[in-house]
Amino acid sequence: MKKKVTKAVFPVAGLGTRFLPATKSIPKEIMTLVDRPLIQYAIDEARAAGIKEFIFVTSRGKNALEDYFDHAPQLEQELRKKGKTELLESLKMTNMESGAIAYVRQHKAMGLGHAVWCARNMISNEPFAVILPDDVIAAEKPCLQQMVEAYAENGGNMVAAMEVPEDKASAYGILDPGEKNGPLVSVNGMVEKPAPGTQPSNFAVIGRYILTPNILKNLNKIKSGAGGEVQLTDAIARQIGTDDPVRGYLFDGKRYDCGSKSGFLQATVAFGLAREDLREDLDHYLKELYAGAAAAT
Ligand code: UTP
Repeated sequence: MKKKVTKAVFPVAGLGTRFLPATKSIPKEIMTLVDRPLIQYAIDEARAAGIKEFIFVTSRGKNALEDYFDHAPQLEQELRKKGKTELLESLKMTNMESGAIAYVRQHKAMGLGHAVWCARNMISNEPFAVILPDDVIAAEKPCLQQMVEAYAENGGNMVAAMEVPEDKASAYGILDPGEKNGPLVSVNGMVEKPAPGTQPSNFAVIGRYILTPNILKNLNKIKSGAGGEVQLTDAIARQIGTDDPVRGYLFDGKRYDCGSKSGFLQATVAFGLAREDLREDLDHYLKELYAGAAAAT
């Protein structure tokens, strides 16, 4: 039987330069989509997939992220006193059991592969998930849960994948796909940020992974790759054709690239419209805005 996936690594040690100056003092993962920080969406998804241990790879300046998961007795007391039970309830999702959450430091932003490697001592010899909180995925069944279920049947290493437009492929890790079987695609090769026009397909790797401990061993050996960073893609690619092969998982759902300004804005509108308490107002505003724009042109 395949070992259950109960640990997830959240690499959050990047510099978040695309959101400067905001990210000078606020970690990108604390930026708010409607009323929750990005990290909350990632944690909710991990919990739905059965994850019990949450490992954050952080860096200098990420204290707000650590504080977010602490109890806030004074705030809670104040809300209780004022009878604000709904708000009190909303804080529950931020609480973690003692010992369920761990932080390790990445001292220098040397790439995603290096960040995952920093968590090696906490993973030991079991499969683990990796979630990049800036990829937010809206789905009926949360993406990682879809993948954990597929992993239970198939094992190996699994990367979330989706089709991207040809002219965007050079921004992603791209799969050289083999046979397709339902949502699973066998992988013959992987390349990180291929030069425009050289990509083997338009299947891009998205920020959800289920990995075997072999990946950590591979990370011990690899040197920096594309962009001078230690690439997770390179460590995963070394497993192709082994007993723990690599598969792409074409998830059901809509992914928002909240690491980019445009993606973040799109997610804000989409998640706002999906909320019953906001939909009417926001929809009305957008219609007015567009009617105004149409009148002006
Ligand atoms: P990105 O490529 O989005 O980089 O990292 P970034 O630093 O967060 O943002 P920009 O590009 O400067 O705007 C993808 C994920 O990998 C983590 C990031 O925190 C993010 O979750 N990461 C990246 C690390 O933890 N360490 C690194 O050295 C690099």
